[in-house]
Amino acid sequence: MNHKLIAPSLLAADFGNLEREMEWFNRSEADWLHLDVMDGVFVPNISFGFPVMQHVARLTNKPLDVHLMIVQPEKFIGEVRDLGAAVMNVHQETCPHLYRTVQQIHEAGMKAAVSLCPATPVSTLEDIIQDVDVVMLMTVEPGFGGQKFIEHSLDKVRSLRQMIDARGAHALIEVDGGVNRQTAPLLSAAGVDVFVTGSAVFGAADPAAEVTLLKQLVNG
Ligand code: DX5
Ligand code: ZN
Repeated sequence: MNHKLIAPSLLAADFGNLEREMEWFNRSEADWLHLDVMDGVFVPNISFGFPVMQHVARLTNKPLDVHLMIVQPEKFIGEVRDLGAAVMNVHQETCPHLYRTVQQIHEAGMKAAVSLCPATPVSTLEDIIQDVDVVMLMTVEPGFGGQKFIEHSLDKVRSLRQMIDARGAHALIEVDGGVNRQTAPLLSAAGVDVFVTGSAVFGAADPAAEVTLLKQLVNG
């Protein structure tokens, strides 16, 4: 049963050939398209914004997972909804009123994902875990693709799994950063449900085949 999901990250795509990239993506077994938005403030890099995402959204029918590495992401709930996004993914570190932001994302008809940087403990989500649809653990510092996976993220996944189960919550666990053939099976065993993968897939000779392989590995 293929119940675990693969979400290729567009950050690693060839931006000069988005049509061609979306062609393999659409015929692959990829489940979600992960879109990394950066503001040069919360993270030390700038990626792409709404005009590029609107273009990409027209090129696929698969669910969009919009990862906002920006300050004040709540300002853009309407724009993300208008993209047709399935998941709006905000950082705990940029949302002082996270409960309200999660509610507003739900009111806009999207699933709410909350991301944690490597140094932010999972315990910060204890009082909101029942309200969120997805918790995404950054397994590298956000801002760049192609970084090395932080090994002790595996313990963090296990703690989060325990917290979700202990509270009878239903949030999916997503990971982002350094996910590849080596790390994906370990993460899956620790309890991850959704795997974002940038360079490992877009850098492969046959990206669609790499998605199939990763999907088999995580679904054991
Ligand atoms: C990093 C981004 C990731 C990135 C992952 O800040 O949030 O989604 O694309 O890239 P890889 O899989 O290359 O680590
Ligand atoms: Zn991301």
